[in-house]
Amino acid sequence: MDETKFIEEKIKEIKSTIGTEKAISALSGGVDSSACTVLAHRAIGSNLKVIFIDDGLMRANEPQDVSQIFSDLGIQVDIIDTQEEFFHALKGKADPEEKRKAFRDIFYTVFGREVLKSEAKFLVQGTIAADIIETQGGVKTQHNILEQIGIDPEKGFGFIAVEPLKELFKHEVRKVAEALDLPEKIYQRMPFPGPGLATRIVGEVTPERVSLVRKATQIVEEEIESLKPFQAFAVLLNDKGTGVKEGKRKFGNIIIVRSVESQDALTAEPTQVPWDVLTSISQRMTNELPEVVRVAYEITPKPPATIEYV
Ligand code: XMP
Repeated sequence: MDETKFIEEKIKEIKSTIGTEKAISALSGGVDSSACTVLAHRAIGSNLKVIFIDDGLMRANEPQDVSQIFSDLGIQVDIIDTQEEFFHALKGKADPEEKRKAFRDIFYTVFGREVLKSEAKFLVQGTIAADIIETQGGVKTQHNILEQIGIDPEKGFGFIAVEPLKELFKHEVRKVAEALDLPEKIYQRMPFPGPGLATRIVGEVTPERVSLVRKATQIVEEEIESLKPFQAFAVLLNDKGTGVKEGKRKFGNIIIVRSVESQDALTAEPTQVPWDVLTSISQRMTNELPEVVRVAYEITPKPPATIEYV
């Protein structure tokens, strides 16, 4: 693929689709939404409003880091704090599909509200080819596919979806993002699911449980970074296990470490993480997180397992 040509063509296409109307882009900080936001900003400049919905399910420091990266590129990002609404919507829900549905519903409620406020006619989305394939295949109920949730993309909330990356696979999007001058931190970034850390919490999603899995994820990312896996993260199980902390028996949390190698996320193999890396992950988790007594490494490929837990 010739990235420069792709970028030129897409900018032209976006310009002719959106014209002088206003558009909105919901940035998540992932490579897909970042690339399509920069593309759309190059095409229509300040007629693009960029929002970052802080749903409370992001990785550590995410909203601040993302808005700084985009501000360095001359793109202003409005951070919208909707954490309470998301936690309220997820409260008491332990079933995976129920959680995903609750996330999707609240996402579109919040999103619809912001889109309406912005008076945008167009919605720029970072949907990529794998999202469409997996949603059609029934593997995933993807929150960013409008049809999937019964919204006619032509009518929606009164806006029209613009999806400039929908023919591309992840590795191609990374090349486009690099060619768009996004920093390596973004174009080399591991994929992160729309419903965020909620997909890595088995059982109820509460602020406390998110905070724990966020800290555990940060440890995994830091320790495993040099191996450059396709995707690596921590998962919080619903069960507790027995451990010994400060000389006393303690019923604590169990964290699963998941790291996979993949091209396009449609299939995946567990990363062959060296023992010393796993040891330091386990030591850091149990030393730095008082709630954690056990750490396990997941060895299942996809299929039969999926990459995320929920
Ligand atoms: P699974 O768990 O289905 O994940 O094997 C495949 C890839 O997709 C990401 N993923 C999601 N991305 N919304 C997203 O935007 C979702 O609901 C979602 N679920 C999974 C996952 O992180 C992996 O890269």
